[in-house]
Amino acid sequence: MNFLLSLICVAVSFSVAKGDGAVWSYSGNTGPAAWKNLTGYSECGNNAQSPVNIVTADVQVDSTLDDLVLTNYDDSSTKTWTLSNNGHAVKVDVDDGGYRLNSNKFSHAYKLAQFHWHWGNVSTEGSEHTIDGTEYPLEMHFVHYSTAYNAIGDAISQSKGLAALGVMFTIQSSDNQALKPIFDLLPNIQSSGSSHTFNYTGSLMSFLPSDKSYYRYMGSLTTPACQESVVWTLLQTPVGISEAQMNLLRTNPMFENNGGYMVNNYRPPQPLNGRTISKPGTAGSSAGQVVHSVAAFVFTMVAAALWFL
Ligand SMILES: *[C@@H]1O[C@H](CO)[C@@H](O)[C@H](O)[C@H]1NC(C)=O
Ligand SMILES: *[C@@H]1O[C@H](CO)[C@@H](O)[C@H](O)[C@H]1NC(C)=O
Ligand SMILES: *[C@@H]1O[C@H](CO)[C@@H](O)[C@H](O)[C@H]1NC(C)=O
Ligand SMILES: [Zn+2]
Repeated sequence: MNFLLSLICVAVSFSVAKGDGAVWSYSGNTGPAAWKNLTGYSECGNNAQSPVNIVTADVQVDSTLDDLVLTNYDDSSTKTWTLSNNGHAVKVDVDDGGYRLNSNKFSHAYKLAQFHWHWGNVSTEGSEHTIDGTEYPLEMHFVHYSTAYNAIGDAISQSKGLAALGVMFTIQSSDNQALKPIFDLLPNIQSSGSSHTFNYTGSLMSFLPSDKSYYRYMGSLTTPACQESVVWTLLQTPVGISEAQMNLLRTNPMFENNGGYMVNNYRPPQPLNGRTISKPGTAGSSAGQVVHSVAAFVFTMVAAALWFL
């Protein structure tokens, strides 16, 4: 009888795994280093993968990058959202609240589908992107898809089909009040595959830092099948979260397949392979270039004056 039961369980987990593609995880022989070798995930071994380490000294200033346009992110009315444990992360699916990420650089606005988190078992690790090698305890991703497509499934494999907005967290003594109503519900989604519908009163803007300066680069999903369809926008300024809130994440959701508490669900940085990371600003706004253009201006004026004489 027990044997039969185990057989059924094995069969069920097999078919669940098959529906989503090969089993993958964050450690061991199905961990990040092996993803590219697992059936269906060869794109994880391609050349424009995410996350990456951002070397701030190498970031290019791009005067054509404009301020982020975040439509309805400031809507603070009550909305009904679904918190779930998908076996790899904790995510919140949003209803169609008209949330859009846009820019003059985009041919179409991007529509928010969900947001989720990646974190560590300790606060010295957890983020996917790193900045000058610094790892953060938590990284939050807002996943948008291009309104050129009807559904996220249609956009996921298309060039620039998705736009992800990333936010880093640093530890502070007080709780993050915007996340509190969500993280307090984590005991309701301990098992992989569980979900919990809730009403949230507040705005998406309350999850973001007030300074929206960002880094931009072209990359991929950070989970299999690692499609290289993502326009990445990473906010430069982190927001705060308490150790107590981090511990709610570390001691409630469980990984799929009895994988233990969900921790260290982050992919390490991937090679840039010549990609550019840019940020908005005035071209040549670095100190050296300002001095250079002032010198050029003085030279021109002197030359003009001499010509008139
Ligand atoms: C993935 O496959 C490549 C090529 O077959 C092999 O060299 C590499 O060791 C494999 N990596 C892992 C982590 O399995
Ligand atoms: C945290 O995770 C790392 C990597 O898996 C592991 O080496 C380390 O022992 C863990 N630390 C604690 C305190 O659990
Ligand atoms: C959300 O609020 C609506 C309107 O007040 C209510 O009918 C509904 O039951 C609430 N849903 C949950 C999950 O609390
Ligand atoms: Zn993510």
